[in-house]
Amino acid sequence: MNLGNLYEELLSKLAKRTPSSRMLYERARKVLPMGVTYHIRFMEPYPFYVKYAKGANIWDVDGNIYDDYWIGHGALILGHAPKPVIDAVREQLDKGSHYGFAHELEIKLAELIVKHVPNVESVRFTNSGTEANMYAIRLARAYTGRKRIVKIEGGWHGGYDSLHTGVKPPFKGPESAGLPEESIKYTVSVPFNDLEAMERAIKGGDVAAVVMEPVLGAGGSIPARREYLKGVRELCDGFGTLLIFDEVITGFRLALGGGQEYYGVDADIVVMGKIIGGGFPIGAFGSRYEIMELLDYKKCTEKTRRSFHGGTFTGNPVSMVAGIATIKVLEREGVYERLNAMGEYMIKGLRRIASHLTNPVYITGSGSIIGVHFTKREPINACISLIERWSDEVYRVLHKYMLLRNIVYIGENMAHFMLSTGHTKEMIDRFLAAFEDFIKLIGKELKSGGS
Ligand SMILES: Cc1ncc(COP(=O)(O)O)c(C=O)c1O
Repeated sequence: MNLGNLYEELLSKLAKRTPSSRMLYERARKVLPMGVTYHIRFMEPYPFYVKYAKGANIWDVDGNIYDDYWIGHGALILGHAPKPVIDAVREQLDKGSHYGFAHELEIKLAELIVKHVPNVESVRFTNSGTEANMYAIRLARAYTGRKRIVKIEGGWHGGYDSLHTGVKPPFKGPESAGLPEESIKYTVSVPFNDLEAMERAIKGGDVAAVVMEPVLGAGGSIPARREYLKGVRELCDGFGTLLIFDEVITGFRLALGGGQEYYGVDADIVVMGKIIGGGFPIGAFGSRYEIMELLDYKKCTEKTRRSFHGGTFTGNPVSMVAGIATIKVLEREGVYERLNAMGEYMIKGLRRIASHLTNPVYITGSGSIIGVHFTKREPINACISLIERWSDEVYRVLHKYMLLRNIVYIGENMAHFMLSTGHTKEMIDRFLAAFEDFIKLIGKELKSGGS
């Protein structure tokens, strides 16, 4: 047997235990492209369809229960349906789900963000991380009067045109059909953790902003080297370029103050999403007054100076109360210590197990964000994590194997995991035991001459 045959065997086992999902999939594909609402949620042989979720568990329509390491795209730091959030939302629903006017809850959530996130004096809400990045880029361009943007290879900031390039190998050109070259003309992508490449890009001139995640998320759950982030900060200062931290994943995950606090590096504009909505749609961008003033039509009366932001559901009271309730829990003593200690426990366990395979396996991560890489060398950037692999098949096999062990994550082509306060040590031990069995199994497959 080789990895390809093993994959087929696992797929057929999965199909046997998911007949109701298969029926839903047949229905879904008639009305939803790929049978899903986001292509990354598709999985072979077909997606399982969720019935309900609680804590760190998900139940599918066939009654299978999974330990969830995707945890709502990383948004559910308190797990699924946490009581304080659900209670707050229930109470709010009777008072209105969407006002379309100013209200106190948006002030409260903004105050909490300003209190915890360094270098944010003022904030605006959006409905998604994509929008937040879009408006942050627009603001940076408005403030600097420059056009060019530097981003990181593998950096995923949502589907906004100017940032929808350099995400997947070969990290060039538009990432989607229908995206004209002109819309990414002013964007350049450089490798993560490579200060010289960043310097060359910034020296190219006219750079309004560098946009980057403190931990490269979709590009491999790869932490920035502290010295690298400091170097980028200095370069930005030297060239009058704004540093935008996309903290859609890392914000309120690594620490209350996100990656800025965790790494001790200051950003000029901070983009947030996911966690701050407590499981409801949200995004936000914030900065110091001097920059945020460009959104203030009372102060910025000339149309040519001000930067636009808005939207029907922005600051809706449901997302606001959910975000407030979430942050209130996160403010409790010891939450991050416990969450990050659990991440460290998982990383250490994975490293110990990985060392038994003759082929290299690298474990990356920071806090509660963890990545497993079957790469030829240490993945310090997306080029290594996505291209320099000794096998692509092994990712697909791992995904199916873990599903059969009742562990789920996204996706089939990469192995990323996020934790919530709903995860327990028993769950992590279960994960590690499954991973250990997987490593033994593929060790045998590889020895027997498989791919
Ligand atoms: C770092 C980062 N930025 C932006 C986004 C886009 O956020 P959204 O999916 O809410 O539009 C994501 C989504 O996963 C993300 O991981």
